[in-house]
Amino acid sequence: MNASDPAVQNESPLGLLTRGAGHAREWWRVSASERAHMYRIEHGHGEHDEVDIDTVVDLDNLEAKLLKWRREGFVSEAQRADEVRAAQAGNVFAHTLQQAAAMAREARTAEAALRARTNPVATVRIGGVEVPRGEANALVPRVNDAYLFTARGEDIAQDIAENRRVMLIGHTGSGKTSFIEQVAARANHGVLRANMNGQTTIGDFVGFWSVKGGETIWVDGVLPVAMREGYWLIIDELDFAEPSILAVLTAVLEPNGRLLLKERGNEIVEPHPSFRLFATANAAGAMSAYRHLYQGANLLNEAFLDRWRVYLFDYLSAEEETEVLLRMLPQLTRPLAHTLAAIAADCRAAFVREDLASAFSTRRLIDWAELMLRTGDVERAAGPAIYAKVGADDAALIRSIIRHHVIFDA
Ligand SMILES: Nc1ncnc2c1ncn2[C@@H]1O[C@H](COP(=O)(O)OP(=O)(O)OP(=O)(O)O)[C@@H](O)[C@H]1O
Ligand SMILES: [Mg+2]
Repeated sequence: MNASDPAVQNESPLGLLTRGAGHAREWWRVSASERAHMYRIEHGHGEHDEVDIDTVVDLDNLEAKLLKWRREGFVSEAQRADEVRAAQAGNVFAHTLQQAAAMAREARTAEAALRARTNPVATVRIGGVEVPRGEANALVPRVNDAYLFTARGEDIAQDIAENRRVMLIGHTGSGKTSFIEQVAARANHGVLRANMNGQTTIGDFVGFWSVKGGETIWVDGVLPVAMREGYWLIIDELDFAEPSILAVLTAVLEPNGRLLLKERGNEIVEPHPSFRLFATANAAGAMSAYRHLYQGANLLNEAFLDRWRVYLFDYLSAEEETEVLLRMLPQLTRPLAHTLAAIAADCRAAFVREDLASAFSTRRLIDWAELMLRTGDVERAAGPAIYAKVGADDAALIRSIIRHHVIFDA
């Protein structure tokens, strides 16, 4: 502020309102008048203190003028500072959060390093996360060397390390089950699966009494087996589960939640430290809009969903899918794999526009590519891998999408 600034010469509590800068600068100065309850207002242009309007008004009049000036873009220094502060508030929050997250990350890394030093086989690295290692057993899935861990798995791996309940939602064949299985395969954990679409009863899930050789014995269901033995349990298609199964699960979902076997005289099953619980669903939560595609899927209520970390699994990007195809089928060339991934991406775009009724899964793409390598024929391979699984309209549209990318004899 320089000496010619009108604000310096007037210490009025209402101060100075300005707009524009340099020659375009315009200002209103407000000060107390010598007359009681009256205010002096002065107006000027430019950077100098030359007054062209000088008048005295009462409070009502002043307030009306302040409002008008505000509308015209005049702002006081104090208001300007407030606005800058408000604009920065969002950034300050984000900045502070980044710092806090960096500290939490450092603490996690230090803890993992300490664990690795005291027991070098205790963890295995998945992406940037140390996942606790289990003991080899017959239920550990086979490692798929072609499996591509992408950034979408990092948070989930951390949740597994922290023993959180994880639900993966997404279209069929987007990679939900295989992600959990491949983490388990590398970390040496046995996996049990229970599919809720039709086959699984509460007896299968929790357990039942059975008569064997004249003796009545209790048979544990899949949930207590996993909890006692420390397996990872994947509940597939949870949005098809019976209400009685959801009710049993709710208790187990609490941190270190125990299972109460009422049928067995209220026996309490404590979770083994290696026990993990996962669910997959096609049409729950954010995927509810697609419920018409997964007929019979139930809406899972919010209180139930809130007990899980829910991750939306989208299909892999075309680049990632190209990579997966090349890893799975090394005979493919990169241009071939890229074209196939682009076809899958186009089919998915058509599905989102509702031009196609069927989703195009990574599973379908891999299968089609495999058949294509066997037959050397795009169309022949597409028959059993794609066309025979969809309606006539979908088959025709998919065929035209394929033809757009690949020239073949009709
Ligand atoms: N990141 C990946 N790397 C390699 N292969 C992948 C990857 N993601 C998915 N796939 C392949 O895609 C196929 C389908 O994946 P998966 O069975 O996990 O899907 P899903 O989402 O569980 O499907 P559904 O909802 O039908 O159960 C698997 O055969 C898997 O090999
Ligand atoms: Mg699955």
